[in-house]
Amino acid sequence: MTEISHRPTVAIAPSETVAIAPSETVAIGASTTVAIASPDTAAPPYDADDVRQLFDRMAASYDRMNVALSLGFAARWRRQLLRLVGATGSPRRVLDLMSGRGETWTEIERRLPQAEITAVDFSAQMMAHTETRSRTRFGGRVRLRQEDALNGTAERASFDVVVSAYGLKTFDAPQLERLAAEVERVLRPGGSFAFIDVTEPAGRALRIAYLAYVRWIVPLAGILLLADPTEYRMLHRYLSAFGDGSRAVEAFQSQPGLHVEVRRYFFGCATSISGWRA
Ligand SMILES: C[S@@+](CC[C@H](N)C(=O)[O-])C[C@H]1O[C@@H](n2cnc3c(N)ncnc32)[C@H](O)[C@@H]1O
Repeated sequence: MTEISHRPTVAIAPSETVAIAPSETVAIGASTTVAIASPDTAAPPYDADDVRQLFDRMAASYDRMNVALSLGFAARWRRQLLRLVGATGSPRRVLDLMSGRGETWTEIERRLPQAEITAVDFSAQMMAHTETRSRTRFGGRVRLRQEDALNGTAERASFDVVVSAYGLKTFDAPQLERLAAEVERVLRPGGSFAFIDVTEPAGRALRIAYLAYVRWIVPLAGILLLADPTEYRMLHRYLSAFGDGSRAVEAFQSQPGLHVEVRRYFFGCATSISGWRA
């Protein structure tokens, strides 16, 4: 059994309890000991190389951690994201930005069965998984572009739809403005876009629970499932700095050619920014 302290505790299994506190050593089982450092609240690095390397390191574990940590909400919000996309006229050319391992494609095809998907991500490791997914589950139909979404090679007005799930939080305000400008550039007039990311809820009680969750449970899950919480602790820094997502909302609203709508999900735990190009 495991060390127990007077600190707040989290039940892991019926018979095991682990104390979690800043800068403490935590014993899990008879032989495993891990240290959880204090939460780092400094602004995270928004440098493209840092972000790319972070996701390269997370690529192998991303899908199972995503499902485990979001308690199913991530998939549900992707579904809701696609409902924001206009389907009249059977739009075909769909750009999936910050595509990760292609988690959004099933929902894209459900909503837009004739979609020709182009996926953009700058992480080579994510792209390696994406390639496999495209080949094994989508008949190799998805076009893959490993490039920086802020310096995309897509032609002007070449897409009917732009979608993106959970890729906003690692951009700072100037980068978000460039991203919004890029969305305006690549969308055809009348084309629609929809982004969603996790955000800090407004209500006090839920916000406290949310902050505790991303600060402690996310890194702890990193330890239990991966034996390394480093990347997932960094995720906490991006989520904290992203707050309620207002810097992303403002960036899209600052684009004169975009009509922007904002929606909150589950009391603000996620926020979508969607609309169309004039
Ligand atoms: C949290 S994952 C989201 C993955 C997926 N869309 C999903 O629904 O789970 C964010 C992805 O954005 C990618 N990314 C972040 N910044 C990027 C940029 N500037 N250009 C291209 N991809 C980027 C990362 O490599 C990572 O794969």
